[in-house]
Amino acid sequence: MKRRTAIVTGGMGGLGTAICQHLARQGCQVIAADLPHCNRRFEAFRIQAQGMADSIDFFPLDVSNAVACQQFAEEMSNRYGHIDILANVAGITRDATLRKMQHSQWDELMRVNLDGVFNMTRAVIETMVEHGFGRVINISSVNGQTGQFGQTNYSAAKAGVHGFSMALAREVATKGITVNTVSPGYCKTAMVMAVAEEIREKIISQIPIGRLGSPDDVARVVAFLAADEAGYLTGINLPVNGGYFMSF
Ligand code: CAA
Repeated sequence: MKRRTAIVTGGMGGLGTAICQHLARQGCQVIAADLPHCNRRFEAFRIQAQGMADSIDFFPLDVSNAVACQQFAEEMSNRYGHIDILANVAGITRDATLRKMQHSQWDELMRVNLDGVFNMTRAVIETMVEHGFGRVINISSVNGQTGQFGQTNYSAAKAGVHGFSMALAREVATKGITVNTVSPGYCKTAMVMAVAEEIREKIISQIPIGRLGSPDDVARVVAFLAADEAGYLTGINLPVNGGYFMSF
């Protein structure tokens, strides 16, 4: 059987790096797509992860650029064969209360966190349909499920991500393609560590498991959904939040 090829957007970010590693460990050829300056992070990663380095390649990509995503998908298909797995992980925060939020903070966030999911998925979905197999995994957030003070932009985009997953899951359900959302809670990443310590500590005190999640906690779940064997799971929103938010 052909080795599965996976694109991970935001592939050199806090969660993205762990997701690349878990997919590589699962036997995938992984394409880590991230902003050009992340090339430096990739070089450091390569040295660290010697055994895995051959299975993970880095390519620069700005997911907010639809034309670039289309070209990227074509280039990667030519280089590696068609794309089997897409993990949409690229995301940013632009936290501010709505009363202080600038239009640019809304726009920039939507371009990456929501348009990015559309741009990249649109670019690969046709070949997934042609080959009768695909796994699309979209990273949302607990804050898309609960709303968070200071995050009207982020919460709206992340809630939108799961709406996107559910709609697309229905469209491609008979084509061998599953589309799912993973909603991490607060994890030990640069994004979360940028939240003021006092606020972060208060949040941690509300997590039943009593600690921040690790990128591996999330990556394990993404790899599970990416597996060939996960073909009967689609349109779900899988929370990985230490019990921070529980619902039916
Ligand atoms: N709930 C209720 N009231 C709050 C509050 C909260 N969580 N946080 C602040 N306030 C109150 C303050 O006490 C203050 O009240 P007064 O005006 O009466 O004094 C007021 O709101 C402050 O309002 P400001 O607009 O001045 O807020 P600020 O500029 O000081 O801070 C903020 C705004 C930077 C967004 C800050 O609230 C914050 O950092 N919030 C946390 C945001 C957060 O959790 N981000 C997560 C990033 S990581 C991530 O997103 C990953 C993931 O998926 C989990």
